[in-house]
Parts: sequence; structure tokens; C-alpha cells
Amino acid sequence: MKKASEVVFCVSDRLVIRKFGLQDVHSFYQYRANPEVSRFQSWDNFTLQDAEAFVSKQIEHSPDQPGTWFQYAIALTESNQIIGDCAIHTLVDEPQIVELGFTLAPEHQGKGYMNEALCALIDYVFGFLKKHKMIAFTDVRNTKSIQVLERLGMRREGHLLENYMSKGFWIDEFQYAMLKSEWLEKRQ
Ligand SMILES: CC(C)(COP(=O)(O)OP(=O)(O)OC[C@H]1O[C@@H](n2cnc3c(N)ncnc32)[C@H](O)[C@@H]1OP(=O)(O)O)[C@@H](O)C(=O)NCCC(=O)NCCS
Repeated sequence: MKKASEVVFCVSDRLVIRKFGLQDVHSFYQYRANPEVSRFQSWDNFTLQDAEAFVSKQIEHSPDQPGTWFQYAIALTESNQIIGDCAIHTLVDEPQIVELGFTLAPEHQGKGYMNEALCALIDYVFGFLKKHKMIAFTDVRNTKSIQVLERLGMRREGHLLENYMSKGFWIDEFQYAMLKSEWLEKRQ
């Protein structure tokens, strides 16, 4: 039987988008615990125990279960070393729509890895999972995340006032979206 980390969902030139494995716990913990990475995210003070629990849960989980998030590990093809993750949340009321999330370890930012990983993931989401629409929410102050979404060609569909409670404050969010038809047109 395959180990969890041998389950590959999609690949790109430099990256493999695969299932999390137990060997990823430490690297995952290191970048999630970094305050620069968690600044605009829901979590704070991420511990090694949190990382162990998270990875163990992901190993047991399968993608595309309505009402849940599935986290994909992003690893370098050459070393299989995890450098970040991306995730999809299949909406419970409309499973043809998925929400996107993503994080990259700081030492691997600025090299186009997230754009490359998400192009492969979106091909898989619209091609293999046959979804109709992808959405994403981002803190309006998160310029790096906004750049990632706009580089992919996602459209800003809304500015949601005080839509999210983060670290004790109500935060404005932008909602971005892309239809399958828009992605296929862009990929031609
Ligand atoms: C959001 C986040 C993933 C963006 O990371 P990133 O490294 O800027 O994004 P990419 O990997 O796509 O890299 C793009 C950058 O690499 C540069 N680059 C270098 N080589 C490249 C190449 N071969 N191809 C494409 N871009 C390349 C681009 O010019 C761009 O730089 P710029 O932002 O200065 O213009 C990262 O900041 C992060 O993890 N933040 C914390 C978590 C978070 O907030 N997530 C979002 C939640 S909604």
C-alpha cells in the first residue's frame, strides 16, 4: 500500500502537489509558527502538537468532501521537501463551488512557486474534480495574497466589510472568483 506522501494529485515543472505525510510535520510546523506567515491567517501561536494533529488528520482525510477543507502539500520535485500548502474547501450547500487557500514558507517566497502550484491545482480542480467555480477570500491588507490571486486571473467580486474576526479585530475581506469557463479561456 502507498504511503500517504506518495499520493500525488498534480505536478508542475518544479513541484509536486501531494498528500501530506508524517515526514512533513516539522517543516509544516516551522512555517505555520512563523508570525510573518500567520499575520493575516486565522491561527496564532501554532505549536508542534498542532502540526502533528493537523497532519495526522489530513493523512486520514480525502479531497472534495462537502463542508470540509482538504490541505495539499506542495513539495519540490527534486527533493520531495515540503515548501508550503494549498487547500480547497468544498462548499456544503453547493459542492460545485470550492474555496481556495494557500501558504508558502518564507524562504521559498518570491520564486513563483505559489503561482506554479496553483496553476496545476486549478487545472486539477476544474479538470479532474469538474468544479464550476473557485472562490477565495483575502484580508484586504494582504497584498502578497492579492497579487497571487490577480496573477491567476481571479476577479475581485466583492469587498466584504468587517467580514472576519481575526486576532480580536473585525477585518475587511476581498472575495475573488473564477469560473471554469474563464480559466479554460485563459489557458488557451
Ligand atoms: C501569499 C503568498 C503565498 C505569496 O507568496 P509569493 O512568493 O509572493 O508568491 P509566488 O510564489 O507566486 O511568487 C511570486 C513572486 O515571485 C517572483 N518570481 C520569481 N521567479 C519567478 C518565476 N519563475 N515565475 C513566476 N514568478 C517568479 C514574482 O515576480 C513575484 O514577485 P513579486 O511579488 O515581488 O512580484 C505568501 O506571501 C504567503 O504564504 N503568505 C502567508 C500566508 C497567506 O497570507 N496566505 C494567503 C491567505 S488568503
